[in-house]
Amino acid sequence: MPISSPASGHRLRPPYPPATIRYSSRPVMDGTHDESRLQRRALVETLKRDGHLRSPRVAEALLTVPRELFLPGVPLDDVYCSSEAIVTKRVDGVSVSSASAPEVIALMLEQLEPRPGDRVLEIGAGTGYNAALLAHIVGERGHVVTLDIDEDLVTSARDHLHAAGLDQVQVVQADGALGYPDLHAYDRIILTVAANDIAPAWRQQLARPHGRLVMPLGLRGLQRCVAFVAERDFLVSRSLRNCSFIPLRGLLSIGWPRVALDAEGALVLSGADEPMPMPLDVIGALLSGRFRVLPGGIAASPEELRDGLHLWLVAHQPHVYTLWGGPKVPDLFRLPERTGARGTLCIMNGAQSSLALLAWTDESARGGDLCVLTPGGGESLAARVQHLLREWDGLGRPIDAQAEIRAYSRGNSPALAVGEATVDQRWTRFVLSWPGSAATSSRQQP
Ligand SMILES: C[S@@+](CC[C@H](N)C(=O)[O-])C[C@H]1O[C@@H](n2cnc3c(N)ncnc32)[C@H](O)[C@@H]1O
Repeated sequence: MPISSPASGHRLRPPYPPATIRYSSRPVMDGTHDESRLQRRALVETLKRDGHLRSPRVAEALLTVPRELFLPGVPLDDVYCSSEAIVTKRVDGVSVSSASAPEVIALMLEQLEPRPGDRVLEIGAGTGYNAALLAHIVGERGHVVTLDIDEDLVTSARDHLHAAGLDQVQVVQADGALGYPDLHAYDRIILTVAANDIAPAWRQQLARPHGRLVMPLGLRGLQRCVAFVAERDFLVSRSLRNCSFIPLRGLLSIGWPRVALDAEGALVLSGADEPMPMPLDVIGALLSGRFRVLPGGIAASPEELRDGLHLWLVAHQPHVYTLWGGPKVPDLFRLPERTGARGTLCIMNGAQSSLALLAWTDESARGGDLCVLTPGGGESLAARVQHLLREWDGLGRPIDAQAEIRAYSRGNSPALAVGEATVDQRWTRFVLSWPGSAATSSRQQP
C-alpha cells in the first residue's frame, strides 16, 4: 500500500512557484560542539513528530552526521531547520544547487530503504550531505557513488565528506542521465534532482529483482517523489509524496518551461512537458476574451485538489498546464500570500482551439464549489472537465496516496486495464491507477 502523501504534511510545491528558500553566508560554525549534537537531536525529534522519519537507521545517520560540515558559513539554526532548503549555487539568478530540506531528505531515505551492505548511486551530489547519510547507513560493506554535473560542486562535496571523515564516498563529476555504469548493478538509485522521465541507464543499472529507484518525478508539471521497485520488465511505485526539486540539467535537461503569453510577462504558462497544442498568440487571444462560468458540479477543499484531484486530472486529460498571472487569473492554488502569484489549471484542446480554466466559485472561501471558465467555443472542453470532476467525485475522490505508477520502456507496455491512465514521456510509458480506491474496479474507459 503506498505511503500517504496527505499524512506527510509535506508542503505543496510544483507546479506552484518554489517556496522561499533561504540563502545564507554568515560566519562558519564548528561541526563538533555540543550545540550541534543538541540541534541534531532536536531535528530528529521534529522529523519523527511530523511523520517524516520512522526508521532507526535513518534516524541514527541524521544523529551522527554533522550537517554544518556540508554547509560551511551557515548558522546552526538554519542548518538544522527541518523544513527549509538552502540554496548553495545560483547561475544568472536561477538556483542550480541546494541543500534539500531535512524533512525531504528524511522522507526520501525512508522511501529508498537503504540497507547495510547496499551499493547506492546518488544523482545530484550537491553538498554531499545526503551521500554522507547514505554512507553511514550502508556501512563498510556497502558503497556509495554520488554524481554531480558541476565540477565545483564535486570538489566542495569531496571536501565536505573529507571533513566528515567519509572519504570512502566516491564523488564523480558526470551527467547523471547516463548513471555510472562502472559499478552497476545498484541496489538503490536516488535522484535528488527532478526528472520527468526514467533514463534508460537508470533502469539498466538497477539491480533486479527488488532494486529501488527513488526520484522526484515531474508528470505534466506535477512533481512527486516516487519510490519505484524493479519488477521483471517494469518498475512499480511503492509510495508517492509531494515534493519540489531543482530540475535536472545536461543531457536529459527539461527545465520547467515557462512561456510568457504577453510582452510584460503578466500571463505565464508552466508545467508543459509536451508541446503546446496551439500557437501562443491563439492562447493569448482566448485568454483575453470573455469567459463563461459553468458549474464544476462538485465542491472540494484545497487539500483535496492538491493531494488527489490534480494528479487525477493530469493523468486523464492531455494538455493540462498551469497559468500564472495577476488579478484576472483565478486563484485556484491559493498561493498569493506566500508567492505573490495567482495560479490555476489551464486545460487546452488544440484541435478545437479551446481552453478551460478551473476556479473556486467563491474565491474568498477556503475551498468550496468549483467552476469551469471557458471563452466562446470551449463548451465541449468544459463539458469534458466537468465530466472528469464528477467522475473523480463519483469514484470516491481517489488520492495520490492510493495511486500506483508502473513505468514501462516505451514500446514494451501491456494493453491498459480498466481504470488505468497513461502519461507518455520520451523513454517511458507511465501507467497510473488507483488500486486503493473505487476507481480501479468501477471506472470505464472513455
Ligand atoms: C538539490 S541538489 C542535491 C542536494 C544534495 N543531494 C545534498 O545532499 O546536498 C541537486 C543537484 O543536482 C545536480 N545536477 C543537476 N543536473 C544534474 C545531472 N544531469 N547530473 C548530475 N547532477 C546534476 C545539481 O548540480 C545539484 O547540485
